Amino acid sequence: MKQLSGKTALITGASSGIGRACAKLFAAQGANIVAVARRENELQQLIREITEAGGSATCFCGDVSEENTARTMVDYSLDYFGALDIAVNNAAILGKSQPVEEITMAEWTHIINTNLGSAFLGAKYQIPAMRAGGGGSLVFVSSFVGYTLGMPHMSAYAASKAGVIGLTKALASECAADNIRVNALLPGGTDTPMGQEAASTAEARSFVENLHALKRLASPEEIAHSALYLASSSSSFSTGIALLADGGISVSRI
Ligand SMILES: NC(=O)c1ccc[n+]([C@@H]2O[C@H](COP(=O)([O-])OP(=O)(O)OC[C@H]3O[C@@H](n4cnc5c(N)ncnc54)[C@H](OP(=O)(O)O)[C@@H]3O)[C@@H](O)[C@H]2O)c1
Repeated sequence: MKQLSGKTALITGASSGIGRACAKLFAAQGANIVAVARRENELQQLIREITEAGGSATCFCGDVSEENTARTMVDYSLDYFGALDIAVNNAAILGKSQPVEEITMAEWTHIINTNLGSAFLGAKYQIPAMRAGGGGSLVFVSSFVGYTLGMPHMSAYAASKAGVIGLTKALASECAADNIRVNALLPGGTDTPMGQEAASTAEARSFVENLHALKRLASPEEIAHSALYLASSSSSFSTGIALLADGGISVSRI
């Protein structure tokens, strides 16, 4: 029995890493996928892989920090598949690692707008579409950074990801009466282009792996399974939660 049969799921940041793994897993679970990111070739390749495996998917190119993208990607989902049941707002950037006094206002704003502004804009247009369809499930991808761990030289990223958790909690209470659940997913270190950028030397990778009780990074597919839990009716009594899929970073002290 497929968990997402008949559902339409919009996934941002689907050209790479966790978003790409979510798109493939959700499609295998029967969802119609709207895959969003800026790089068209990567999205087209993903759509080919999903359709060759018997799934249903289309893509939409745009910058999720722009309001026009947030609005038109929802319109596109409604036009193409006739519904919007699930949204995984996952797209984000890490930004340069640097001490706070070296961050320019332009760099700060770029990271906050890309990671947190896109979450707000996503919700602004996804929620009315879900309400009109009788309900839905919104998932925001946050991070252990800024929640269980304060990492030096990542203040803008941490602030953006902590902000996503606050947004999640507010929207969960705002939208519960509309049968819309809103949850945040907090991955630990994950072996994606972003994870590799954050731990770009063997020494840094070993440091990051050792932060986890499990002493390794997650695969994007492992994190996609946690996103599937939040997106699907398996988590039907959860709303407003910050779900850790962090390999035990939050309990590890050695
Ligand atoms: N990897 C980790 O260790 C880790 C840990 C905790 C949390 N996370 C979170 O997990 C999520 C996915 O990260 P990942 O590791 O899979 O990263 P990734 O492989 O670098 O993928 C990031 C995705 O976001 C998209 N994106 C970035 N800026 C965008 C924009 N302005 N408009 C549209 N799309 C944009 C990228 O697509 P285009 O470049 O094609 O636009 C790409 O598909 C992020 O929210 C990240 O903060 C990651």
